Amino acid sequence: MDDIELIKSKLNIVDVISEYLPLKKSGINFKANCPFHQEKSASFMVSPERQIWHCFGCQKGGDVYKFLMEKEGLEFKDALEILAQKAGVELKKTGSKKDDLRNVLYEANQKAAQFYNYLLTEHKLGKKPLEYLKNRGLTDETIKQFNLGYAPQNWEILVSFLRKRGFDMKVLLDSGLAVASKQGGYDRFRGRIMFPLSDVRNRVLGFSGRVLGDELPKYINTPQTVIFDKGHFLLGLHLSKGSIKEKNEAIIVEGEMDFLMSFQSGVKNIVASKGTALTDAQVEEIKKYAPTILLCFDTDIAGDAASRRGIEIADKAGLNIKIIEFGGLPAGRQAKDPAELIKKDLALWEKAVKEAVPVYDYYLKSVSLRFNPRQAQGKRDIFAELIPIWSKIFDTVTREHYIEKLAALLQLKDELIREEIEKYKKTQLPETYKKALTDAPAPSQPVKNVTFDRREMLEQYLISLLLHQPAEASYVPNFPETIFTQEELKEVFVLLVLFLDSISFKSRAFKITEFIKTLPGEYVDLIDRLYLMEIDEKLGDVKLWQREVDLVVSELKKMLLKSSLEKLSLQIKNAQEFGNDDSLDILNRRFRDLSVKLKNL
Ligand code: UTP
Ligand code: MN
Repeated sequence: MDDIELIKSKLNIVDVISEYLPLKKSGINFKANCPFHQEKSASFMVSPERQIWHCFGCQKGGDVYKFLMEKEGLEFKDALEILAQKAGVELKKTGSKKDDLRNVLYEANQKAAQFYNYLLTEHKLGKKPLEYLKNRGLTDETIKQFNLGYAPQNWEILVSFLRKRGFDMKVLLDSGLAVASKQGGYDRFRGRIMFPLSDVRNRVLGFSGRVLGDELPKYINTPQTVIFDKGHFLLGLHLSKGSIKEKNEAIIVEGEMDFLMSFQSGVKNIVASKGTALTDAQVEEIKKYAPTILLCFDTDIAGDAASRRGIEIADKAGLNIKIIEFGGLPAGRQAKDPAELIKKDLALWEKAVKEAVPVYDYYLKSVSLRFNPRQAQGKRDIFAELIPIWSKIFDTVTREHYIEKLAALLQLKDELIREEIEKYKKTQLPETYKKALTDAPAPSQPVKNVTFDRREMLEQYLISLLLHQPAEASYVPNFPETIFTQEELKEVFVLLVLFLDSISFKSRAFKITEFIKTLPGEYVDLIDRLYLMEIDEKLGDVKLWQREVDLVVSELKKMLLKSSLEKLSLQIKNAQEFGNDDSLDILNRRFRDLSVKLKNL
C-alpha cells in the first residue's frame, strides 16, 4: 500500500468531513447541504463504505483528498500532508514511484512511435501504407510533423523491439502496446497506419491505428491506461493550441484524417474528438484556450442524443457553440466529412468554417427542414424536439433570445413557449427528485447541473436500487438490458448481473466494494455516482425494496412499449397514405399485440 492509500485507510471520510459540516445519516450513506453551492435541501452525499462523496446539485465529488482540496483550495500535495498528520503517517518521499511508472509508459510509447515512424518512412514494409496516406492527400511534411507510423502485419515486431531495449513485458502490457497472452504478450496493433496520440506537452500517451482497407474495426485505439483516458483526450491540441488561442475559436472534428487535412491546409485552430460526444473534461481543456467552439460532426447533430449531451455540457461550461455544415453543396462537390471536402476543394472548407451558425439557430433550421411549422402536427413535432433542448439552455439571456426566435418560427406567443418549458421541467423528475426542483439553487449561482430526462433518471434510479439491494434479497434481475436506453447503463447493468449471478451461486450477500473490485476502471466513477443517489430509508426493507424495483422495471417497460407504439402508429399512417394494404395488416396486428402487452403490464 502506498502512503496515499495508507492514509485513506486510517481515516474515516465521515469524520473528516464532519469537521466542516454537519452530516446526517441517510440509509447507509450520510448527507448534508453542499458546501460548494447554495442549496436549501441536502444533495451532498457521503459513503463510509466507499469512502467517497458526491453532490448531485453541482456534480462535484471525489475522495477525502479531493474534499480537502476543494474546501480549502489546496494542491494535492498540501492536502496529503494535512491528512498524513491527521492519520499519524510519516510521509516517505512522495509520488516518486507513481511518477516512475508514468514516465516509463511515456518512454515506451515514445520509442514505439519512433519505431513505427521508421517503418513507415524508411523501411520497405512502409511502401504501401505510405502510398495510402499520399492518396488520401497527406504530404511528407505532415507525416513527419505528426510522426505518423506503420505497424506491420506481425504479432511481435514491436514487443521484441522494445524488449531488446530493456522494457519489461509488464510495461508493454500496462501501456496497452501489447495484449496479454499465455506466452506473455503480443503486439496490439498489426497491419495498421499508426497515429500517435500526444498530449499538450507533446508526450505520446498511446495510439490509434487504421486499417489500410475496409476491414473492421476501422480504427483501434489504446485502451484506458495510467496515462491515457479517452474522455480527457483531444487529438492534435499540442500542435493547434497556439492557433486556437490566436483565433479565439476551436474547431472540433471527429477524425484523425479530418484533423490532419485541415491542419495541413492551413486551417490550424482545430482538434479531433475521435468520434465521441464531448465530455466535461474535454470541454474544460478547450476552455483554457478559446471561448468558442465550432463543431463539425458527420451525423445530424439535432437528431443525435449523444452529440446533444456534449453540446449541453459545453453550453453549461459557458462556451459559445457553433455548428459547421456543408450538407447543401452542389452535386460533385459533396463530401461526407472534412477530410474529403478539403481534398476536393479547400475553399469550400474555409467557407463552411466561416459560415458556422450558432447551435440553437442550427436546431431551428434543422427542424424547419424536417417539419412544417405552419401545421398543427408540425408545431407539435417541433415542440417535442426543441422544448427539452430549450429548457436546458443555461444562460438566461440566450434562452430568452431563442424563446423569441422559436415563437416567431411557430407564430405563437413567447409566453406559451415559456409555459411549455416550465411544464417540461416539472414532468422530468421522479418523486425522489421533485424536491430538488423546488429547492433549486438561486439563479445567480453558477452551478453545473447535469439534466437528464425522466426516462434517463428512472434508468439511473433502477441501477442505484440494484446497488442498494438488502442483504437478504439475493436478487438477480431477470429482465434484459434492453430496457435501458443509455449505453453506459446497459454496460454496467450487464456487469452487475454477472456479478449478482456469481454471488448468488455462492450464496453471498451483495457488497458494493466487492462489486467495484470486479469492474474495469472506466466504470468506477459512474457506479460510485449511482450508488450515492439518495434512496429512501424504507427501502432497506427487502419487501418494499423488491416492490420498488418491480415498479420501476414495469414503468420502464411501459415507456419502451409506448415509444414502439408511437413509431408503429406513424408507420401505419404512412402505409394508409400510400395504400399499402399488406403491410398495413401486419402493422395493425403488431399494434394490437403491443397494446395488449401494454395493458397487461
Ligand atoms: P469514422 O468512421 O467517421 O471514420 O469515425 P473517419 O474519421 O471518416 O475515418 P477515415 O477518414 O475513413 O480514415 C470517426 C472517428 O471515430 C474514431 C476514429 O477516431 C475516427 O477517426 N473511430 C472510428 C474509432 O475509434 N474506432 C472505429 O472503429 C471507428
Ligand atoms: Mn473520414
